[in-house]
Amino acid sequence: MRVLGIETSCDETAVAVVSDDGGRFVIEKNALASQAQIHARYGGVVPEVAAREHAAFLFPLLVEAGVPRDGEGIDAVAVTYGPGLVPALRVGVEAAKALSWSWKKPLVAVNHLEGHIYSVWFSKFPPLPKGGSGGVAFTPLFPALCLLVSGGHTELVLMRDHGVYEVLGMTRDDAAGEAFDKVAKLLGLPYPGGPEISREALLGDASAIHFPRPMIASGDLDFSFAGLKTAVRVYLASQTAVPLADVAASFQQAVVDTLVLKTLHAVAKVSPRSVILSGGVSANRLLRETLGDALREQHPGLSFHVPDASLTGDNAVMIAMCGLMRAKRGEFVDPLTLVADPNARL
Ligand code: KG4
Ligand code: ZN
Repeated sequence: MRVLGIETSCDETAVAVVSDDGGRFVIEKNALASQAQIHARYGGVVPEVAAREHAAFLFPLLVEAGVPRDGEGIDAVAVTYGPGLVPALRVGVEAAKALSWSWKKPLVAVNHLEGHIYSVWFSKFPPLPKGGSGGVAFTPLFPALCLLVSGGHTELVLMRDHGVYEVLGMTRDDAAGEAFDKVAKLLGLPYPGGPEISREALLGDASAIHFPRPMIASGDLDFSFAGLKTAVRVYLASQTAVPLADVAASFQQAVVDTLVLKTLHAVAKVSPRSVILSGGVSANRLLRETLGDALREQHPGLSFHVPDASLTGDNAVMIAMCGLMRAKRGEFVDPLTLVADPNARL
């Protein structure tokens, strides 16, 4: 089975082809156009601008990925239908519906967060050649505890099997990535803020300023990052000269400590067989290392999976992979009626 994946939920336009060759999942094509630099001018993603760029880039990317015009060899089309920005999602959804309808190939609707989980299926191979093929997937052990950390979401989810999810906790306000982006803005750093803050943090002292670790003793598995952002703002207002690197390092440490502690609480509560870290914030080295070290120390029997560095951010490989698993189960949607859902849940 060979599946075309399309992703346009935020500011990356992406197209990929993933195939299943007798239980071996292979990335055949992986093409992506990032709009991050365009949105950096506005300090964040502007939905209408994102939609315009997706519309301009999607078909050139299909050509770049070598997708045949008649769909020959493609068995199903998978597309992100939500969550995300409606004008952006619509571009991918309408294009996927048109392809599915005209090719007479089945359509799979993929939840973007479920897609991020499937990005770790391709975590055990040498880095992907740029835009090219490669990579063979594996399956983590179930039940798997997933820490999903992106620009729009922060959730702890128990994955009991393919397509079977239980949300254990989520943020009550800002997502972890959103906190990075907002604090970066306070510090005068460009969008997206996560990579900028982690770069600045390398030069700073993470124990220089004590920022709160929100809700670590709340007894549940929810998060809240809005107060942490406010704590940074209050601190900055109290200073005449801003120690940029120290603020970045101390803030990053507070976010990482909170995410790691909550994940350890969840492990104790649900006893998973593996832990998956994914979403854009999973690019953060301190988070990958701190969580990996804590799990190895405290739960040596547990396997820990993070996406390959090339697949932490939004991409279509994860959408095609997730779509392929759904297609194998025959979970198709009607290409005449699928609509984008900005609030889609797992
Ligand atoms: O998954 P993603 O690419 O898009 C969404 O689905 O939201 O996540 C984007 C988020 C942004 O908030 C960005 O600042 C954050 O991921 N991010 C990072 C790092 N790289 C990207 N946050 C912390 N450290 C990083 N190295
Ligand atoms: Zn994402």
